[in-house]
This record gives sequence, C-alpha cells and structure tokens, in this order.
Amino acid sequence: MGKLLEVNNLSISFTQYVQGLNRHDTKVISDLSIDVNENEIVAVLGSSGSGKSLLAHSILGILPYNSHVEGEIKYKGQVLDQELKEKLRGEEICLIPQSVNFLDPLMKVSEQAIGECKDEKEHEEKKIRQREIFGKYGLDESVDDLYPFELSGGMARKVLLSTALIGDPDLLIADEPTPGLDKKSVEETITDIKNLKENNKGILLITHEINVALKTADRIAIFYSGYVIEINTAENFKNAEKVLHPYSKALIESLPRNGFNLTEGVQPLNEVAGCPYYENCLVRLDKCENNKPKLVNHDGVMVRCFNYEEVNDGS
Ligand SMILES: Nc1ncnc2c1ncn2[C@@H]1O[C@H](COP(=O)(O)OP(=O)(O)O)[C@@H](O)[C@H]1O
Ligand SMILES: [Mg+2]
Repeated sequence: MGKLLEVNNLSISFTQYVQGLNRHDTKVISDLSIDVNENEIVAVLGSSGSGKSLLAHSILGILPYNSHVEGEIKYKGQVLDQELKEKLRGEEICLIPQSVNFLDPLMKVSEQAIGECKDEKEHEEKKIRQREIFGKYGLDESVDDLYPFELSGGMARKVLLSTALIGDPDLLIADEPTPGLDKKSVEETITDIKNLKENNKGILLITHEINVALKTADRIAIFYSGYVIEINTAENFKNAEKVLHPYSKALIESLPRNGFNLTEGVQPLNEVAGCPYYENCLVRLDKCENNKPKLVNHDGVMVRCFNYEEVNDGS
C-alpha cells in the first residue's frame, strides 16, 4: 500500500495588523501530521472554524498571502513545494471546494469543468470526458449549458465533484462535500466518494459531520483546537471504549445526546501552554497544564495525550 500524501508537523498562522501597526500572529493549525494511503479515505473531523479548509488549501497551494506555513507536505514521497503543487493541481491532486462560490458565476458549468485547453483538439477530448463524468453523476446534457445560479444545491455539489474528477486525480481533497444536502443527496455523495477509492486513489475527506466520516472513511483524524488529537480507524470510532483520547471518548459518548453533531464552543481560541484539552479533561495530569503532549503511536493508534505518552516514553 503506497503512501499518497504525508503531512508532517504542519503549522499555519496568519499575520494581521491590528489598528494599523501592531503586528499580531494567530496560529490556526499547530503541528499537524496526517497521511493518506492508496485505496484509502481519511476523514479530518473538526468543528467549524478549526482550520480544515486551510489544511486543504495548503495542500493545493492556494493559501491567502498573509498566511505563514511551517512543516512539510509530501506527495508520493516527493516534497510538495509550491511549484509542484501548481503543476499537480487540477490533475493529480484535485479539490472539491467547500463553497459553490468557487464556481465562476459567468461561465457555463460544462466550460468551467473542462477548464483551459491548449487547442481545439484538447477541448474536444475533454468535452467527451466532461459529458461522460457529468452523465455518470446524473447530470444530463441540459445541465451543460446552465450557469451556476441555475443549479439546485444538490446539482451544484455534483458539478463540483464532477469537475474535480475530470482531471482524473490520484489524490482528491473533498472539503465538506455534504452540508446543506438532503438525506438522499448525502447518501449519494457518500457512495460516490467511496466508489472513487478504487484504482489506488486516496481521498482526504474534510467534514464536521461525524456521521459522514463514520460512514465514508477508513480512518478518522480528530481535530481539536488546531491540533490532531487522535487518528484511529472509523471502526474503532463507533465505540467509545476503542478510542483513546479523552476528548474522543467524550465526543463519541455525547453523540446520541447531541443528535450526532459535533459540539461547538469549549475549544480554546488562544494558544495555550499545555494540552489544548486541559481545561475540560477528566483524566489530566499535573504536567498537562504547561507541557504539550506529542502525537504518539499507541498500539497503532495515533494519540496526543500524556496518559499514553507515559507508557511509550523512549520508543
Ligand atoms: N486570510 C485569513 N486571515 C486571517 N485568518 C483567517 C484567514 N483565513 C482563515 N482564517 C481563520 O482561520 C480559521 C480556520 O478557518 P477555516 O480553515 O476556514 O476553518 P474550517 O474550514 O475548519 O471551518 C478561522 O478562524 C478563520 O477566521
Ligand atoms: Mg472549511
């Protein structure tokens, strides 16, 4: 099983100028490590505003100019620098964007799906592929000539999905592909994403909907306050006893009560000295207040918690 994507110790912060002159750096993602293998769907699960889209945009190389990135991203073993990102984007690595605002309002959907072509011949070829993929996802020929505002929510999602697939990517980043969809369209999207996994492709599925992650992914990474606190199999995430981090346990246990939604709030917004979950943790140790746990491998599960690092010291 080959590794498609490796993100190692990624941090993203923003520089902003408050009242004109005071420079202020805000860290949004801290020390994030995650990988995606061939034939695998990895979900990144985190509440709104936790930096999930920034993760997607950093892999694609489309972060805003005021962002600052540390760490390393590799694709098929090669360091993914800005030049390589631009080369692979739209071909080997594609994004299903979170917002339909990524569609150009003034361009027919088929034309934007086809994208730029060097000549008429390439356009013809891509047109055939566009029609084939649109058809596969239930978008008939009448959709080709529509403008984005003429699409229903479900159709727009399918256009975004189809557009991402026209380049035939090996790695697909799906940024919240299901919000606002009715139940049937959610099921369809899940099926579509699962079907993509064949042929050695990998998918990074970004979502705040735990049900979608549980139904779709092979592994799930839990994002908390800018940190990945646990990466475990979707199978284990169905059982609070099989997840390790105290936040993951609390999350799984609270699901029926919360209608299977992630709860907002409680995540500290400012950079804290110790474990980001310290304030809410029921099994915290003294050292958790002022020291940061690392993401460690505990029996094949990645977890960021001193309760497990203890056992693993020196390994
Ligand atoms: N250009 C920017 N400048 C400053 N802060 C930003 C910028 N873009 C995003 N952020 C902040 O980064 C955080 C994470 O954003 P985002 O990745 O969109 O979250 P998510 O996709 O998880 O909902 C948000 O709090 C947002 O305000
Ligand atoms: Mg987002």
